[in-house]
Amino acid sequence: MEPFRFTTDLRLGIQAIDRQHVEWFQALENLRKLVDGGGGEAGVPKALAFAVSYTQRHFSDEEAAMRAAKCPDLERHLTEHTKLVNQLCDLTAQHGDDLAVAHQVLDLMAGWAREHIAVHDKAAAPALAKAGS
Ligand SMILES: [Fe+2]
Ligand SMILES: [Fe+2]
Repeated sequence: MEPFRFTTDLRLGIQAIDRQHVEWFQALENLRKLVDGGGGEAGVPKALAFAVSYTQRHFSDEEAAMRAAKCPDLERHLTEHTKLVNQLCDLTAQHGDDLAVAHQVLDLMAGWAREHIAVHDKAAAPALAKAGS
């Protein structure tokens, strides 16, 4: 699996959100290393729980900033977040093998995170900047 790397082209220029995106990618990369690296499996449940809870926390903080800034297309953005959270909840509600769940979560996030930031978060950046976020 490809590493989760936050690259500068993903920056919005909104400090609080950029910082969370960096930490979000770090949480996902940390999980990927444990899953991929071999021998790190013992740390998977904790790293998986952290990556999922960080995703939810980030969405909630970002939505609050976007609401305050009256970002256009907010409803569509919230739908994107909600769909992803629902998918994560479905995956983590499975009982049993944390390693298999972590694999599926990483597969889901691999395409999603980069695409979402590049398209949807970036579209909100001008309104956030104008509001002084
Ligand atoms: Fe975001
Ligand atoms: Fe977002």
